[in-house]
Amino acid sequence: MRIVITDSYEQMGMEAANIVAGQIYLKPDSVLGLATGSTPVSMYERLVAVHKTVGLDFSEVTTFNLDEYIGMSPDNPQSYHYFMQEYFFRHINIRPENVHIPDGMAKDMLAEGERYEKLIAAKGGIDLQVLGIGQNAHIGFNEPDLKFAATTHTVELDEETIQANSRFFQDASEVPRYAISMGIKTIMMAEHVILLANGRNKAKAVYKAVCGDVTPEAPASILQLHRDVVVIVDKEAAALLPEQIRGVTITRKG
Ligand code: PGA
Repeated sequence: MRIVITDSYEQMGMEAANIVAGQIYLKPDSVLGLATGSTPVSMYERLVAVHKTVGLDFSEVTTFNLDEYIGMSPDNPQSYHYFMQEYFFRHINIRPENVHIPDGMAKDMLAEGERYEKLIAAKGGIDLQVLGIGQNAHIGFNEPDLKFAATTHTVELDEETIQANSRFFQDASEVPRYAISMGIKTIMMAEHVILLANGRNKAKAVYKAVCGDVTPEAPASILQLHRDVVVIVDKEAAALLPEQIRGVTITRKG
């Protein structure tokens, strides 16, 4: 793992955007794995700016999002389909047919999971996967569990996740209880991974991801076994990382 600690949330987004942009420059037909939530917003803003100012070209890029709420139609402003359009896709020149997000309205979720996995495989797998992290150390919607879930599957959300996500809704009772999410295997198969986190409320999860035991009870800890992960965190999210790790990290100001 390479750890990059930044001075600010904006700088975190910039570092992540630089890696994504570099990936696209080197391989214009890259397959990106994308995340929603408040964490990656600054990365998307930066990528949009790079597209507008220097013409970063998304015309050959394919994307696969991590997850979607079950029962949420794409035109619902709380859906992750809507989020991605709003923050990213409508500002860049990606082709709609190259955008993939699990279908939260599918009749048969098992079949939807299989369809999604086959599509990823047909595109040659994910080149670069962007991840946020939950306060309970989930990645995608892979919640703490007794085993690592493999492929795209239905998830019952943890109470902690429901509470954390209730800030986007009128109240917690409106937060969907179920989601469809890429599995841990899907994520681990990606060639390169970036894990992003900001804010003091993510410090414990970041500690578990980087320094904790590798256990399905802290799903992000599996990333310690991946060959190419960059963890980009602001200094609040890095607050619990021990000195010996900080000694070998790259710190960026800005
Ligand atoms: P957040 O969510 O970016 O909104 O904090 C991250 C996550 O739950 O994975």
